[in-house]
Amino acid sequence: MKPSRFLLLILIWMMTMKSRGADLPGTWEVLVENAGIASMHTVVTHFNTVVLLDRTDLSPTEERYQKYHCQIDPKNKQDPQTRPDCYAYSVYYDLANQNLQPLTINTDTWCSSGQVLPDGTILQTGGDNDGIKKIRKFSPCETTSSSCDWEELKDIELAEGRWYATNQILPNGSVIIIGGKAEVSVELFPPRHGGGVVSFPFLAEAVNDQMDNLYPYVHLLPNGHLFVFANNKSVIYDYTNNIVLKHYPELEGGPRNYPSAGSSVMLALTPDMESGVYSSATILVCGGAQYGAYKDMNTSVPAQSSCGRIVATAKNPVWEMEEMPVGRIMGDMVMLPTGDVVIINGAQAGSQGFEQASKPCLSPVLYQSDEPMGSRFMTLAPSSVPRMYHSTANLLPDGRILVAGSNSHAYYNFSTKFPTELKVEAFSPTYLSPWNKIMRPTIEELPEKINYGETFDIVVSGELPVVFGYPEVNMASAPFATHSFSQGQRLVKLVVLSRAIVRLGTVRFECLAPPDRSVAPPGYYMVFVVKDGVPSVAKWVQII
Ligand SMILES: *[C@@H]1O[C@H](CO)[C@@H](O)[C@H](O)[C@H]1NC(C)=O
Ligand SMILES: *[C@@H]1O[C@H](CO)[C@@H](O)[C@H](O)[C@H]1NC(C)=O
Ligand SMILES: *[C@@H]1O[C@H](CO)[C@@H](O)[C@H](O)[C@H]1NC(C)=O
Ligand SMILES: *[C@@H]1O[C@H](CO)[C@@H](O)[C@H](O)[C@H]1NC(C)=O
Repeated sequence: MKPSRFLLLILIWMMTMKSRGADLPGTWEVLVENAGIASMHTVVTHFNTVVLLDRTDLSPTEERYQKYHCQIDPKNKQDPQTRPDCYAYSVYYDLANQNLQPLTINTDTWCSSGQVLPDGTILQTGGDNDGIKKIRKFSPCETTSSSCDWEELKDIELAEGRWYATNQILPNGSVIIIGGKAEVSVELFPPRHGGGVVSFPFLAEAVNDQMDNLYPYVHLLPNGHLFVFANNKSVIYDYTNNIVLKHYPELEGGPRNYPSAGSSVMLALTPDMESGVYSSATILVCGGAQYGAYKDMNTSVPAQSSCGRIVATAKNPVWEMEEMPVGRIMGDMVMLPTGDVVIINGAQAGSQGFEQASKPCLSPVLYQSDEPMGSRFMTLAPSSVPRMYHSTANLLPDGRILVAGSNSHAYYNFSTKFPTELKVEAFSPTYLSPWNKIMRPTIEELPEKINYGETFDIVVSGELPVVFGYPEVNMASAPFATHSFSQGQRLVKLVVLSRAIVRLGTVRFECLAPPDRSVAPPGYYMVFVVKDGVPSVAKWVQII
């Protein structure tokens, strides 16, 4: 091709990109046109597969949508123990080849909670109706073609029914299950010796006349205690002795949890590079509905645009307030491998609940947590798909964000405003743009398992800029994403001790594993090498 012709083509390409709004950073792609279900709960597994899970009370007698996969004997309509319909409510999705495999769930998982156990098994608890006390497990298999499926435990159930609870894995590998509709208590899985429920009066202190204390934001602090946030109140909770150790100041600006939820993350846990000690944790809470929007069922009340940020481990911490570019309810906050945060999905007005919101937030925003206040937010490229109530967002091992779900109706409805969404999309932050490719490190070697407090080696290759100096080595958990909060989400930055050239373009770095189980509870993590803001594709490691 003649150079002049080539330049002309480039010019035309740039003009078309411009007219598509490509001047905002980031790109969107559709991964699956029809996943069969709208995912209300989403988890990425250490086999690079994804579990999509909806509720099961979407009665098939309603005109719902085309039959997906018939897994249950359709003649067995009368047996209440087996779902009398032929619809899948959970799907196993393979990122490598886009295969979808329907999974079996019989009891109702509506608005439930979950966590990934140290061996990679997904633990899912509660729901509604016949599922409110159910405990279920899913042990992922390597591909969607092998047979793995949900197991609904028969010999054990929750002590209390839990609908809209939050789960968090604990340093010893047990899972705490906190709250739920009209539940002022916590319990553990496996259950505490002697069984039972422990009362947690904080949830009653936080409630108001439209609830606003459901799906509390729970973060495991590096000191081993829990930061729990509900409505506008928050505490440090010592779950071993069942005592509240500290009350934080109330966060101004209105309620922040279901049915008025914004979202929350704990910012990347960062060690002191000299001592390797993780002493500080910062919590961020962004957006939410205005008080009354839910109660009045008013879909046009503008959402809150404020964020509160607090150093939870400080002696006398106060909330530092910041403003997002637009108000947002039902946003999902995703920790990127870099330590920045993407706030994605949701709406600009109304509240959570069926038909309760309007004005979708199509543009995600980037929160650059290390920038000075006032220059942390950046608006990103918009999607064309509204992701309203019951949508999810999860970090993928390749650095993209998986976006699924959206169903703000009592049943599947494809012929209404904000139709039930079966499309699965991926958003690529700018670190994945073509001109960053040269900066992208590749992990050549990483142990499969690492031990607390021990050093381990990671071998990294790349173009010359990549292998000069020191990269960051950051570990990301795989959370259980639902209702604008990713339960168990955490990013841990590691100390990188030394470097040695293996050969031209390949370097071995010695890293220090997290010191203990409070910094990183046992389980599988995605390890990313990040150089000048550009992450590698992650490799999974199990910390034990
Ligand atoms: C984990 O810790 C909790 C709280 O301290 C305790 O009640 C529970 O029994 C422990 N679980 C295991 C399996 O040791
Ligand atoms: C916190 O919420 C309660 C209602 O639940 C309200 O009375 C109180 O004023 C709020 N606090 C702040 C600082 O906004
Ligand atoms: C709903 O909220 C909007 C915006 O705050 C307000 O203008 C309107 O009067 C409200 N509608 C009702 C019926 O209260
Ligand atoms: C879907 O929504 C439309 C518009 O609100 C409504 O007329 C229709 O009855 C709904 N269909 C189902 C199956 O709920």
